[in-house]
Amino acid sequence: MNAFDRREAGAHADGLLARRLANVGAASVLFYRQPIEMVGGRGAWLEAADGTQYLDFYNNVPSVGHGHPRVVKALQKQIAALNINSRYLHRTTETYLERLTATLPDHLSNVAMTCTGSEANDLAIRVATANTGGTGFIVTETAYHGNTSAVIEISPSSLKRGKPPAHVKTVPAPSARNYGDDIEGGFARHVKRAINTLKRRGYPLAGFVADSIFSSDGVYPGPPGFLAPAVAAVHAAGGLYVADEVQPGFGRTGNMWGFERHGVSPDIVTMGKPMGNGYPMAAMVTTPALLDRFCEDIGYFNTFAATPPAAAAGLAVLEVIEKEKRVAHAGTVGAYLLERLKAVQAGDARLADVRGAGLFLGADLCRDGDPALPDGDLATRVTNGLRERRVLIGAAGPAGHTLKIRPPLCLTTDEADFFADALAATLAAV
Ligand SMILES: Cc1ncc(COP(=O)(O)O)c(C=O)c1O
Repeated sequence: MNAFDRREAGAHADGLLARRLANVGAASVLFYRQPIEMVGGRGAWLEAADGTQYLDFYNNVPSVGHGHPRVVKALQKQIAALNINSRYLHRTTETYLERLTATLPDHLSNVAMTCTGSEANDLAIRVATANTGGTGFIVTETAYHGNTSAVIEISPSSLKRGKPPAHVKTVPAPSARNYGDDIEGGFARHVKRAINTLKRRGYPLAGFVADSIFSSDGVYPGPPGFLAPAVAAVHAAGGLYVADEVQPGFGRTGNMWGFERHGVSPDIVTMGKPMGNGYPMAAMVTTPALLDRFCEDIGYFNTFAATPPAAAAGLAVLEVIEKEKRVAHAGTVGAYLLERLKAVQAGDARLADVRGAGLFLGADLCRDGDPALPDGDLATRVTNGLRERRVLIGAAGPAGHTLKIRPPLCLTTDEADFFADALAATLAAV
């Protein structure tokens, strides 16, 4: 999706691009046909080597803003003082974990820190299988949960060929297109059917893993509460509900956690991306009982996780979210942006749907405005047109036709206007 094609353009590459291709080879993934060299970032803006300032509507990692001074300072101070693994006691780490679990339901009180969301989900899979005796997993059709061998199997969006293995059953994403007016009932029915299918195949349910805003499926917040009957069915079948908060967590949806919109109670929460505002940290949070059972057979240690610098970065992020009221801000600026996008939609039928929760929005581009005709090519042209207007954005969904809108949470209404105006101008030009 809107990626640099090494085979198409690689032969003509020179300078830094040629060095990248030589160094990274086939594993290199770069945005845009003409990749951008970045040199700096502040707030919601990135600076390229040629001096161009880009509004970052792509990146939910630096969620409290690129280079936020409070996070930078906390990290610098701690790294200068001590950076050591978690087999020693350290006050900042315990303070951080207490502050983090205070944002979650009471039963979720044990934290296994990791360095990536993939590791957190890998661990969630292992905790779920150890506790349920099941091996079957349910995920949505275009889900992405990470890149380890086990997690790739529950990440159908990564499979360029073929289908997920037999122990994984997919259900359609919670969109109006898939379920009409009854997203709640239709989604729960599909989850129940998936539970039975897995059982028939010889894989009793271990878990239902759901990104709380279904980002890679195309950003589907769904109506508040719609997940509850599906989660109840999972629990009735003896499975665990894993809320993947790697994308929606830490305030983005206008709630601290995406699952809160649905009034559901996860057995496991995984988190990452915005957790350290760019410092690589992630976690799996669960109940003491579930973690105890898992640790009877296998312990868990992760060299670079739960270090004092990770705790310092994570603590600073929580402090900024609280002091700068970022959860409420995501709700109000997100609602403003959604209204602006609806106005753009009213003037251009190809923008078939806009939706979102807080500062996580999706905008579908379709031929003739028909939701049955998703237009991934148009989304690519719009993405590149926006780049020319100094906005960076990505696309998601099975056809790559959904603009994935998730700017840093410090976004102002002026910056929301900048984006909406750029989108309108781009649509008029493509
Ligand atoms: C919903 C979701 N879960 C998990 C992951 C994996 O996180 P990481 O890239 O930190 O391993 C991602 C990454 O994009 C994600 O979007």
